[in-house]
Amino acid sequence: MGKIKRGQRIGILTAGGDCPGLNAAIRGVGKTAIVKYDMTLIGISDGFTGMINKEYRELTEHDLSGILTLGGTILGTSREKPFKSEKGKKEISKPRLIREHYEQMGLDCLVCVGGNGTLKTAWKLAQEGLNVVGIPKTIDNDVWGTDMTFGFDSAVNIATEAIDRLHSTANSHKRIMIIEVMGHNAGWIALYSGIAGGGDVILIPEIEYSDEKVAEYLIRRASENKPYSIVVVAEGIRKADENSCSAAQSLSKRIRELTGLDTRETVLGYIQRGGTPSPMDRVLATRYGAAAADMIAARDYGKMVALKDDLIVSVPLSEVAGKLKLVKENDPMVTQAMNMGTSFGI
Ligand code: F6P
Repeated sequence: MGKIKRGQRIGILTAGGDCPGLNAAIRGVGKTAIVKYDMTLIGISDGFTGMINKEYRELTEHDLSGILTLGGTILGTSREKPFKSEKGKKEISKPRLIREHYEQMGLDCLVCVGGNGTLKTAWKLAQEGLNVVGIPKTIDNDVWGTDMTFGFDSAVNIATEAIDRLHSTANSHKRIMIIEVMGHNAGWIALYSGIAGGGDVILIPEIEYSDEKVAEYLIRRASENKPYSIVVVAEGIRKADENSCSAAQSLSKRIRELTGLDTRETVLGYIQRGGTPSPMDRVLATRYGAAAADMIAARDYGKMVALKDDLIVSVPLSEVAGKLKLVKENDPMVTQAMNMGTSFGI
């Protein structure tokens, strides 16, 4: 960390799958950088693709007005992984292009807003000598080193509303309703929305479940005069050999076979990533953005902003890269839900 420096020229990119709150983070970085530190903000297009192709534009304070509540990202995004080996290719390597363009654009620092893949790339760029600051975003909430990523709260709100709506139709038809939510290999969205929406069964990749236990539980509920059940599943419970159908479809088929109960499935999909961020995500993204600008001013590079016990802190990217934050089997929320009779299929 160094003495506060004003007037730096900072690049910002958003990479990986989008999520609600990206524009709030861009605004948080930009307004703090421009208003407090007199810096220049350069918006890089489409994640690392923009660094490779040198596609960028200056963002003025005016450009940052009115974007707080907007979903998506005004910069665009991509899943470009510049360090992925390109065996046999003759052209200049992508990391080298990024380094050269960083110099040509006259950047003092590059802010990388993204999930695990993006933060790993950010760390590799830091090792190549670039000044980098990371901001953790993803609906999956699976970034190691932070209590929360922005995007997660909005996704949980959307998934919870969907579960609430399934309750009434499940009740009318006395059905088993299976709802599949996103989360990649983590069960955070399923756990939170499952608890918030009163799911009877919650299945997450971190807890090995059996179809038979789920079926037993559902049959018992039916016999206890509970006419319908809600089963919340994370997309990551999908087994390797189920390529052709979703986790919800394959579980639905098994439950029908094992219980004979009327069963339907819903795959919530990209709705969880779209639209305006929740107030909590707007606040978190803004706090992260402002803290990132403060770190740049202090020349505190090679780190990611993070939330720890409701305080904004920074964590070295070297510690974050390559790790995942998954639900622990003994997470207090899992235990509490089990104590209340929720099944995790075990
Ligand atoms: O990481 C966010 C996420 O939405 C995951 O929950 C999901 O598995 C994945 O991205 C979908 O990725 P894509 O946008 O490439 O289809």
